[in-house]
Amino acid sequence: MEPPAERLTGRLVALGITGSISAYKSVELLRLLAAEGADVVALLTPSATRFVAPLTLEALSRHAVESDVLALMPDRRIGHVVVADTADAVVVAPATAHWLGAMANGLAADVVTATCLATSAPVVVAPAMDGEMYAHPATQANVRRLRDEFGYAIVEPESGPLASGAVGVGRLADLPRIVDAVVAAVGSRPVREPDRTARPPVVVPPREADLAGRRIVVSAGGTQEPIDPVRFIGNRSSGRMGIALAQAALDRGAVVTLVAAAMSVEAPAGAEVVQVESTADLRAAVLAALPGADALVMAAAVADFRPRRTAPHKLVRGEGLVLDLEPTEDVLAEAARTAASLDPRPILVGFAAETGSLERAPDKLRRKGVDLLVGNDVAESGSGFGTDTNRVTIFDRDGGADALPLLAKRDVADRLLDRVARVLDERDAAAQTVAR
Ligand code: CTP
Repeated sequence: MEPPAERLTGRLVALGITGSISAYKSVELLRLLAAEGADVVALLTPSATRFVAPLTLEALSRHAVESDVLALMPDRRIGHVVVADTADAVVVAPATAHWLGAMANGLAADVVTATCLATSAPVVVAPAMDGEMYAHPATQANVRRLRDEFGYAIVEPESGPLASGAVGVGRLADLPRIVDAVVAAVGSRPVREPDRTARPPVVVPPREADLAGRRIVVSAGGTQEPIDPVRFIGNRSSGRMGIALAQAALDRGAVVTLVAAAMSVEAPAGAEVVQVESTADLRAAVLAALPGADALVMAAAVADFRPRRTAPHKLVRGEGLVLDLEPTEDVLAEAARTAASLDPRPILVGFAAETGSLERAPDKLRRKGVDLLVGNDVAESGSGFGTDTNRVTIFDRDGGADALPLLAKRDVADRLLDRVARVLDERDAAAQTVAR
C-alpha cells in the first residue's frame, strides 16, 4: 500500500505551546506535524515550560526551543523574529485563556504572542481550558477578535472530561483536527523560506561516539570514463550524499577513508582521501581499502559503461563520432565477493538511484550481495543529485524497507549510520557467541 502523502513537506511550522495541562499533547502534535513532512520549531510561554520539558521538544524537533522573548540565537539573530519571518504557519496548541487575552490585546510578553505579532504567516489557535473559563464572555470576546479581526483559524475545543474533573467544552481538539487546520491554513502558498540556513538553526543532538574504533570506507562523487585526453563520460553526482556520510561517520568517532571521484563539494577534514577518476581507479581503491574495514558505503555514482578504447589524441570534430561502449566492472558486487573471504566481514551498503519506482531495489540488494541498500527516486524534486535533501528507503536483507521522510542529507547519513552501527554490533555479538 502506498504511504499517505505528506501534506507539509518542506514547510516550517512554529508550534506555540502555552501553560495548560494539555500541553503534554503538544509533544504528540509535534510528531504528527513532523510525520506530515514539516520542520517544526517549538515556542513555549514561561508557564508552558512547567508542563512540558523543553529538552523533549528540542530532541524531537532538532531546533532549540524558543522560550525567552529577549533571547538571541547563537548567531545573534533574534529568535522569535527569525521564526516569524520564516515559518509557513504558526499553530498555538494548547492556547490558554490568559494567552488568548494577551494575544487579543497584542501584549507581546512571551515568544508565542511576539511571534504571532511579527509574522505574516497564517495562525491556527486551538484553545484548551476549563469549561466555565471557555464560556466566559471575556474568553469568547477574545476568541472572536482573533478569528474575526486577526483572521486566525480557531480549532474549537471539544466536549469531554476536563482536568478539573468536570465535563464540559474545553478539551483540546483532537490532534488530527489541529493538523488538518494547519494544512488548510497553509493551502497552496509557496514554501516561504526554502533556504534552511535562513530558518532557525538545526541542533544536531550529540550522538555518542558509537562508531569509535570502526573503520568506514565511503565512496562518493561520479566517475569519469575517458573518451580522449580532454573528454570523458560523466554523471550528475555532486558527492553531497557521500560527503555527508563521511562527515557523520567522523563525528561519530570512525576512522574514514573517502574514495572520492569527481565532486562539486569539499571533502571533510579528518578523512583519508583517495582521489579517483575512472571506475577502474575506483575499483582498485575500494578493493585496496576493504581489508580491515568495518563497513563500505558505496555512495559513488559509478559509470555503467565506458568507451572500449580511449583515443590517445584529441578527437577532431570531422564527420561526428560513434562511441563503442563496454560495461564497467560492478565494483560493489566484486567488493561483496571479496568481503565474504574477510574476517570480520565488512558490512556493505549500496545505493540505488532509480527513476520512478523502487520496486527493483530488493532484487538489487540480493544481486549485489549487500547488507543494506539505500533506494532513492532521483526524479523526485528535492531528492537525488545536487540537492541538500534526499528521500530514501533503506532496504535490508530480511526484507525490511524503512521509508524515511524527506530529510537533509546529513540526517539521511545519520539514520543510515544508525543502521550500520546496529548491524556491526550484531556482527560482533554473533562472532563472540561463536568464539565462546
Ligand atoms: N555500482 C558499482 N559498480 C558499478 C555500478 C554501480 O559498484 N559499475 C554501485 C553503486 O555505487 C551503487 C550500487 O552499485 O552503490 C547500485 O548502483 P546502480 O547504478 O543503481 O546499479 P546498477 O549496478 O547499475 O544496476 P542497474 O543497471 O540494473 O540499475
